[in-house]
Amino acid sequence: MGGLSSAAAQNGLLFGTAVCTSDVLAQPLTRAILRDCSIVTPEYEMKWDAVCPNPGFPDYSAADELVSFALANALAVHGHTLWWHESVPPALRTEPEKRFREAAMDHLQATVTRYAGRLHSWDVVNEPLEPADGRADSLRETPFLSAFGPGYIETAFHQASLLDPAAILVLNEMGLEYASPAAEDKRRQMLALLEREKSRGTPIACLGIQSHLTALEQPRNHPELRTFLREVRAMGLTVMITELDVSDHLCPRDRRRRDAIVADTYRAYLDLVLEETEVLAVSTWRLSDDRTWLNGFRPRPDGAPQRPLLYDRAIRRKPAWHEVEHALSKERQPGSDEAPP
Ligand code: XIL
Repeated sequence: MGGLSSAAAQNGLLFGTAVCTSDVLAQPLTRAILRDCSIVTPEYEMKWDAVCPNPGFPDYSAADELVSFALANALAVHGHTLWWHESVPPALRTEPEKRFREAAMDHLQATVTRYAGRLHSWDVVNEPLEPADGRADSLRETPFLSAFGPGYIETAFHQASLLDPAAILVLNEMGLEYASPAAEDKRRQMLALLEREKSRGTPIACLGIQSHLTALEQPRNHPELRTFLREVRAMGLTVMITELDVSDHLCPRDRRRRDAIVADTYRAYLDLVLEETEVLAVSTWRLSDDRTWLNGFRPRPDGAPQRPLLYDRAIRRKPAWHEVEHALSKERQPGSDEAPP
């Protein structure tokens, strides 16, 4: 049986996952990555605080190692992420705005230049929206907003476009997938942001939808998400599913039941997204349960390790692997013209 990348290729898209340097050495996992993936995202190694723990002394060795591994194995690389409020080097978080502005621009320019021509795409700006911060434009209050003003997104994308015209430039966001009033508000705010940036000529080519889902919370049918995806497509933007995983913290402890619920969540979500928009790539946020970030971010109340991904801790395929394979390979026509169900 072919891997997930060949299933995805049947519909002209890439399948991948987040990797870190230790994965490259872990044989069973590396074999699964090479069998299933056609694109990889560095989980940490390209983030600003990972590259520059000490500002002024960047260390790209880990990122270089992952890029070399990927290119040596004909894998595309999705760069993650240039400007993100969660990965500002600690020493810069309290710097005056002018100093921060210089450092942020230096980092973006140096990093994009270093990999220019070799990356498939970049998460140029990550998680720009936070309606709870109360701004009329719903921009998140971040050091980038403080230092550059609301034009920081335009600034970042223009610089990245100048320095690597070949890379697909992605605006990446979390929480657009859920069926809640807050998520619907965030979807509306994202469309307004994309319209504003488009009118300014900001070279955003693709919307990254992180897709950190929760089993038993993510609805199978989701008309508001369908409508949103159609509106994104109507704006001429493509989509990347950038960080897909399915938290099982609300699921019963029984493994077979958990795995079945998680698998069904993957299938229903991917069926919906792939029906409604032009998806360039689907990437999970790691491939196997053994090192999911969710054990820290969304621990199960019963303390059992999460089982959110496609392979178990022994790198064996789970039901979710098979459901993702079905969804990726399914013959489909992007969103027909009738109204969403
Ligand atoms: C996460 C990593 O997976 C964690 O290990 C780390 O502690 C925090 O960052 N959205 C993102 C990713 O864009 O960069 C985050 O990755 C998960 C949420």
